[in-house]
Amino acid sequence: MTGLKAYQDSFETYLNETVSVGSPEGLYLPIQYLLELGGKRLRPILVLMAAEAFGSQKKEALPAALAVEIFHNFTLMHDDIMDEAPLRRGVDTVHQKWNINTAILSGDAMMIQSYKALESYNNSLFGKLTRLLSKTAIEVCEGQQFDLDFESEQEVSQEQYLEMIRLKTAVLVGCALKMGAWIGGAEDHDAQLIYDFGVLLGMAFQIQDDYLDAFGDPASFGKQIGGDIIENKKTILYHQAISKGSPEEQKKLKAWFTSEIKLNAENKKIEAVKALFDITGAHKSSRKLVSQYTQAAFEKLEFLKINERGKELFKAFGTQLMERKF
Ligand code: IPE
Ligand code: IPE
Ligand code: MG
Ligand code: MG
Ligand code: MG
Repeated sequence: MTGLKAYQDSFETYLNETVSVGSPEGLYLPIQYLLELGGKRLRPILVLMAAEAFGSQKKEALPAALAVEIFHNFTLMHDDIMDEAPLRRGVDTVHQKWNINTAILSGDAMMIQSYKALESYNNSLFGKLTRLLSKTAIEVCEGQQFDLDFESEQEVSQEQYLEMIRLKTAVLVGCALKMGAWIGGAEDHDAQLIYDFGVLLGMAFQIQDDYLDAFGDPASFGKQIGGDIIENKKTILYHQAISKGSPEEQKKLKAWFTSEIKLNAENKKIEAVKALFDITGAHKSSRKLVSQYTQAAFEKLEFLKINERGKELFKAFGTQLMERKF
C-alpha cells in the first residue's frame, strides 16, 4: 500500500530527528529502545492522514502524530508490567530487560513528553489538542482498570467487555483522527464523525488483537501467544465461547479461567482453552465481529466532507487492519 507507506516514512524520519537519548540514560534509553522498535505506527499515520484529508500539509501534523505515538508507547510500557508480558515487538519488554521501576518512570516521562510534543501549536489549537488528549488519557486509564478488574471477576458480560475495549483502545484511535482533523481545519461536525469512525475501527482493532493473542503466528505476532489466556483475560474469544458453547463447554471454560495454573502447566491450559474457542465457534465468530465493526466504521466515512480519494485511503487502511497478522 504505497499511499500509506509514505505517511509512515514521514513519521519515522521525524521521530528519528526528534527523539534522542538524554541524561540520565537510565531514564531515556528504555524510551528510545521501545520507540525505535517500531510497531505498526497506526495512530500517527492516522493523524497525518486526517490532517491531509482536511487540507493541511503533513508536516503541520507531525508533532501531534508524535504526541499520540509516544502516548501509545507509554501505555504499552505500563501495560506490559500490568499484564506480566515478557515480549513486545518480538523482543524483551522494558521491565523484563531493565526492571519494573525503570518501566514505571520511563513510562511516566513518556506521558509528559507526549504533552510536550503539542507545545509547538498555537494557543488555541494547543488548548483543543491537550484537552482531547487528557480526556482520552483518563479514559484509557479507566479501560485499563476495568481490564484488570475483569481478570478476577466471575461474571463479566460481553457488553462490559465492549465498553472496556472502547476505553482502553478505541478512544485513542478516535483521538488520533480528531487531532489530525482539527489541525487540517475540519469543522466540529466532521471532526466528530471521523472520531466515531476511529472508535469503531479501534473496536475492530482490539477484537483482532484478542484473536491474534490466541491464534496468531508466534513468528509474526511479536507478543507471547496465549498471554491473555494465562492472565485469565476475558477477551472476545471467551465471551463468544460462553455464549455459543454447550453447558458442559461453558463449565470447562469457566473452570480454566478461575484456576491458578502453575508455570509448567501453562501450555496445557493454553491448548485446552484454544480447543474450546475452536469447537464452540468463538474462533470464527470473533473474526466476523472484526469485519462487522470495520464495516460499521466505513459507514461513517460516507458522511464526511472529504474527497473520494481520502475516503478510499481510509478504507484501504481499515481493510489492512482487519487482515493483519501482527
Ligand atoms: C497494541 O497496539 C496495543 C493494543 C491496543 C492492542 P498496536 O498493535 O498498535 O502496537 P504496535 O505499536 O503496532 O506495536
Ligand atoms: C492494550 O491492551 C491496551 C493498552 C495498552 C492501553 P492489550 O493488553 O491487549 O495490548 P497488548 O496485547 O499487550 O499489546
Ligand atoms: Mg493489557
Ligand atoms: Mg497487554
Ligand atoms: Mg492484547
